[in-house]
Amino acid sequence: MADIEGLLPDPVPDHPLLRGRREIGRGESTIVLEADTVDGLERVFKVLSSPTDYAYYTAPDRPTGRHFPLVYADHGTFGRSSRGFPFHIVEVERLYPLPGHGEAAEVATKLSTSYFDACMMWRNLAQDMGRIALHHLNVTPMGWSEAVHDSLKALEVFSNEYGALPDLIKADNLMMRKDGTLVFSDPVFME
Ligand SMILES: Nc1ncnc2c1ncn2[C@@H]1O[C@H](COP(=O)(O)OP(=O)(O)O)[C@@H](O)[C@H]1O
Ligand SMILES: [Mg+2]
Repeated sequence: MADIEGLLPDPVPDHPLLRGRREIGRGESTIVLEADTVDGLERVFKVLSSPTDYAYYTAPDRPTGRHFPLVYADHGTFGRSSRGFPFHIVEVERLYPLPGHGEAAEVATKLSTSYFDACMMWRNLAQDMGRIALHHLNVTPMGWSEAVHDSLKALEVFSNEYGALPDLIKADNLMMRKDGTLVFSDPVFME
């Protein structure tokens, strides 16, 4: 399969849980497939090939709360991706792209632009830039709601703890629930 715009080129691993499931998303290191709806709540299987993403979704001290994805199950590892890491299959709540307008979209835009500006401010720090930029967002009064501010702080702790780099710039890493709540779907990547 061609490597389109840096997307993970791998076929969906041939695992019984994933067979016949519709692919609804793909990134540099993840494939997202439709899972069953349980008690009226839609779920997806995230097939993760980044150890950082796996930690973000399953570590006992991973960030949780209003703005973090709900995780239903860790279905273990299966095979290995072309990125060189085992695939992990994790069952997560289904999220949706942010619309062009509305409260969640406005907060997401402010997060991305403030984070980008902070990265520019700290760009001489090279590989520490992202983490310092996130710290900057936390310590500079920017009018975040308490829940968003708490989430940013939790993300900073996670990034430091797990050597993860924040990525709040790519638009589709921030998503929302059907009810419009902003969710940090994929805010970190591997060093
Ligand atoms: N919980 C989810 N529900 C529905 N679609 C999702 C979900 N998480 C991610 N996606 C979709 O799949 C794409 C890839 O997922 P992402 O977690 O960003 O992977 P990567 O780490 O490879 O960037 C996203 O851009 C988004 O469109
Ligand atoms: Mg992503």
